[in-house]
Formats: sequence, structure tokens, C-alpha cells
Amino acid sequence: MENMKTPSLNPRGRGRFSPGIRLKMFGFLLPLAFLLVLSVAWTVTEITGSALRKDLLQRGAAISRVVTLSSGYLLLANDQLGLDRLVSETRESVPDIAFVAIRDTTNKVVAHDRIGERGKPFEPSARMTPLGTFADTHADEVVRTGRTLIEFNTPIHFAGKLVGTATLALTTDSLAAARRSIHRSITVAASVILGVACFGALFLASFVTTRVKRLHEGVLSLGKGEPFRPIPAASSDELGDLTRNFNRMAEELLAQKAGLQAQARQLEEAYLSMIRVIAASLDARDAYTLGHSNRVAKLSCELGRRLGMNEENLIDLERAAIFHDLGKIQTPDDVLLKEEPLSRAEEEQMRSHPMDGTGILWMAPFLHKYIPVVRAHHEWYNGEGYPDGKKGDEIPHHAQIIALADAFDAMTTDRPYRQALGTEEALDEILRFRGTQFSPELADEFAKMIRDLPSTDMAKLKSMAL
Ligand SMILES: [Fe+2]
Repeated sequence: MENMKTPSLNPRGRGRFSPGIRLKMFGFLLPLAFLLVLSVAWTVTEITGSALRKDLLQRGAAISRVVTLSSGYLLLANDQLGLDRLVSETRESVPDIAFVAIRDTTNKVVAHDRIGERGKPFEPSARMTPLGTFADTHADEVVRTGRTLIEFNTPIHFAGKLVGTATLALTTDSLAAARRSIHRSITVAASVILGVACFGALFLASFVTTRVKRLHEGVLSLGKGEPFRPIPAASSDELGDLTRNFNRMAEELLAQKAGLQAQARQLEEAYLSMIRVIAASLDARDAYTLGHSNRVAKLSCELGRRLGMNEENLIDLERAAIFHDLGKIQTPDDVLLKEEPLSRAEEEQMRSHPMDGTGILWMAPFLHKYIPVVRAHHEWYNGEGYPDGKKGDEIPHHAQIIALADAFDAMTTDRPYRQALGTEEALDEILRFRGTQFSPELADEFAKMIRDLPSTDMAKLKSMAL
């Protein structure tokens, strides 16, 4: 449980490129703003254009009616000078008048601001589009000599009698100029609005995604098991609620995880204690091996410390040394305690204890890491050991250390079939087997270590029982 894994979280969460929320929001909001501005600009242009056109038509119709009011009497009186002056003054009074003509009831032009037209029949335009009627004035869009004009035809009455028709033509230049000016203004306004919308979309996207990003980083940090710091949630909107709920959830999750880890550690300690008791009980089956596992563990750790192992490595070495002969629990007493030489079958039974030990350790997953060491503690450096015949560096380093401590303790304790060897005799024996049973470097270091140990430590070690 200590090594409880949290599913790893891919920081990106996607294998190939995928736009983030900020880009998606920006990509959504900007075209939306663009469409909105475009539709508003189009609507404003249409409304303004329509208003300008209507104003032009009303203005043209009014001028045309004014001309008819003055021209009725002049026509009847056949006052050519008055008619010429009327059309000329009218033409000059408004800059966008293309021409002014007065014709009689036979359609002959009797007055025109261009003198050359006088006396000619009035030619209607081939291309004529009716635009509407204002009182008795008809407005049409016409094309004359390549120019688009708006013609206003108003009948001239005098004393209730039709005496002619006044025709006034306005150019559409002022309308086009006004439209261009409006277009320019709308384009500038739309550009400014779009720029503001662009910044607004960016700000909104950043405002939302910054908080989402903080949440995302919090989830990643939680997933990696890093120390959790609550994510600031100042706002009272949905994202603020989400952040506060995430903080609460993370704290509860971490508290539950800590609880579970504590329980797992307690369970592990309980299991280890049980194994220690079993190992000690096993040693106690034979008065000669009482305290053997503990002494092997102490000597192994002493050597490990001299080799510069860290604390975690030393704890693993100590536990493996405690467990190394655990498999002997399955060896019958008549074999384990036999004082006479063992038969071949009994020898086989005795040699099966490393494998039996791995079977016991296999039952608890957190003890699996000790299996290779326990299995290999009777392997020889030259490959002549058991159960696998591994040699050299194939043998786990901890197993090579335990093998030295195991052999030294076995030789320096009394056995039913021989007296204990002295320290120097045991070391000579170990050094005699350097390169065959033991790693040469480790055997040399072990011998140095034993010789460096104060005599009080050795005495304490030998007196160690359980
Ligand atoms: Fe053993």
C-alpha cells in the first residue's frame, strides 16, 4: 500500500495536437463578433442608404413642384425669357441638378437649361425604372449618356388646365458620395468594434481558462502525489464553486490516502513482526542456532554500512537476512536437528529450504522483493551453489553479503558435530573460499570488518539470542 500507485495523468491528455479551451473560445467568439458587427454594419448601411434615397426623392419632387408653380403662367403667357430664367436659376440653385426642362403638351421642349435642347421633342429614356409617386410627381431612375439620373416629371396646370410638364433630373453623385462617406464611417467603427471584440474575446477566454488551467494543474499535482496547495477561488460564480469543491475533494482524498497508508504500514509492520517471530522460533528449534538470523542480520548490515549503502537499502538487507532461512520451517526436526551425517535424501530436503522460503514470502506481495535474495543465499560465486547455480554478479548483492555472514556465524557457533571455530580461523576459512564460494572483494571487506570490530561488539554479537 505504501507504493500505492495513482493512475498517471498525461499532462496533455491527448496524443496529437488539439486546440485548448482558450483557442476554442477565441475561435468561437471572434467569428461571432465578426458576424455581429458585419450584420449591424450592413443593416445600418441599408437603413441609411434608404433614408438618403428617400430624402433625395422628396427633395427632387419638391423642387420639381416649385418649378411647375412658377412655369404655368409663363407657359400660357409664352414668356420665353421668364421660362429660360426659371430653368437657369433652378439649375444653378442646386448643384446636383443634371438638367431642368419644361415642355408643352405636345412634348416639345420650350425651355431647357441647355439652350440647344429648346424646340426639340423631349426624348424619354430607354432605360427607366419607376421609383415612386410624390403627390402628382413621378420619379424614375433613368440612364442618359451613360449616367444614372433620377427624373421627376410633374404636370403643369394653370387655371385647372394642363399646359405642360416640368422635368427635373438629379444626379446620384451626392447620394453615392453620402453612401461612400457612410461606408467609410461604418468601416472605421466596425474595425474599432472588431478590435475591441478581439481583445474582449481574448480577455474572456483568458479569464475563464486561467481558472480552468489552475484546476487542471491542481489535478495533475494531485495525480503526481505532490504536496497539495488549495487553489485560490475568490469568485462566487460556477467556476469559483467548482474550485472550492475541488479543494474540498482533494483534501478529503489526501486524508483518506494518508489513513490508508497508515493502515497499510501498520499491517506491514504486523506482518513483519510475525515473520520475525517465525524466524526467531525457527532458530529456537535448535539450541545451536539460537539467535542465528538476528546475528546474520547484524553482520550483514555492518558490512552493508561499510560498503556505503543507504538507509533504505540497509533495511531491505536486514529483512532479507532475517528471512533467509525461513524455509527451514518446512524441514522436519529429524533432519534439521540430526547430529549424524545426512543421507542423500535428507541432504536434498535440507537444500530445499531456500525454495521453501520463497514460497512463504510469495504469500505477501510486499515481501516479494526479498524473494530473489532468500532464494540465492546458498549460491556460490563460482556457480557451484544451489538452487539455480547462479554465479558472479548474477547472484543478488544482498545474497552475497548474507552468504558471508551466514557462513561466519555458522562456523563461530558450536554445532553438535564440532566445536565453534575461533574468529581468525573462521576468517581464514572464508578467505580460503574467496573467488569460489564468496565474492573476493566482499570476502576481503568482510574479513577487514570483523577484524576492525571491537572485541566487546563481537562478544555482544555472540551472546545475541533472540
Ligand atoms: Fe540457509
